[in-house]
Amino acid sequence: KLYAAITAVGGYIPPNKRLNKELEQHCDTSDEWIIKRTGIKERRILSENLATSDMAVQAIRDLAQQYNKNLDHVDALIVATSTPDMPMPATANIVAQKLGIKSVWAFDVNAACSGFLYALDLGASLVETRRYRNVLVVGADNISTYVDLKDRSTNILFGDGAGVVWLEPSYDGGILDAYLCSNGEGREFLNIEAGGSLYPIDSTDITNEKRFLKQDGRTVFKHAVQSMTDACTNILQRNNFDINDVNWLVPHQANQRIIDAVGRNLNIPDGRALSNIEYIGNTIAATIPLCIWQNLKEIRTGDLVMLTAFGAGFSWGASLFRW
Ligand code: ACO
Repeated sequence: KLYAAITAVGGYIPPNKRLNKELEQHCDTSDEWIIKRTGIKERRILSENLATSDMAVQAIRDLAQQYNKNLDHVDALIVATSTPDMPMPATANIVAQKLGIKSVWAFDVNAACSGFLYALDLGASLVETRRYRNVLVVGADNISTYVDLKDRSTNILFGDGAGVVWLEPSYDGGILDAYLCSNGEGREFLNIEAGGSLYPIDSTDITNEKRFLKQDGRTVFKHAVQSMTDACTNILQRNNFDINDVNWLVPHQANQRIIDAVGRNLNIPDGRALSNIEYIGNTIAATIPLCIWQNLKEIRTGDLVMLTAFGAGFSWGASLFRW
């Protein structure tokens, strides 16, 4: 059987840090509370004159350099983002142009924090058709633009970043399965309302409430734990695997307590649920590729890796691959 294998990984996190101490100056919170309730110590913030495409470009350059990959060979480029540079063209087009990649099928996928999983399955399907040999799948978000520094229910969680994987055909394993879901009834609990066609940027209706990301943290927390647990259980069952077969779980990095609760529900052995939330926070579509990128030394050829994510929509899912 022909699989889509991940043959290279790259990442980028901006240099500017936003520490918990800094947030204490903007709202009623504390370093101690944030660490205890989220596991996050700091997050990275992109400079104001840069955008999502700039981080995606840096992540792809990192991949090309580390693995000596020729970007002229890329025939599809998918960018998972919910913070595109602009409504049109797609951020993927801008990334391709900045990198000088020509004649590439480039487009965006928006599934918020589940975006990378959605785009990965799409990219894998393109490779499996045999019509595309080299597919780049990026997760990138400049979410700090949409975070209200005065809102302690969101400002503590989010940071900027980009991660990327290179997919190509392989007969020795790769992406085995993906289980992806969405339910629009969750849209009221986590969203950015303004900036689209419903509340255009010049609309008199625009308040900070609509302009910034807002969420009902407790509701999102509960659904995130349940949905990621269900998705992982389902995908393991239908592929006849047991949780003990999984070498690494790479969960969306939303809150360390969510990661721990999913791990407990699944009964995953200690140390197998990877985390890098402490120093970069929740980077939306970038969390999963960045977590793989920062833990590459741990993952060995032949390992079974399970990814899982949950985000706005609600959207969620899991995917399984043989490294
Ligand atoms: N600092 C200090 N105190 C706070 C803070 C804060 N930042 N936030 C809330 N509190 C207080 C509350 O007022 C409350 O006090 P009370 O008990 O006196 O009423 C207490 O702390 C507990 O509040 P909760 O809202 O229950 O806090 P919780 O433990 O749920 O943590 C958080 C809040 C961190 C937002 C959590 O709910 C969470 O992580 N939710 C999931 C968020 C998430 O993953 N979102 C992104 C999904 S991905 C995507 O698609 C964008």
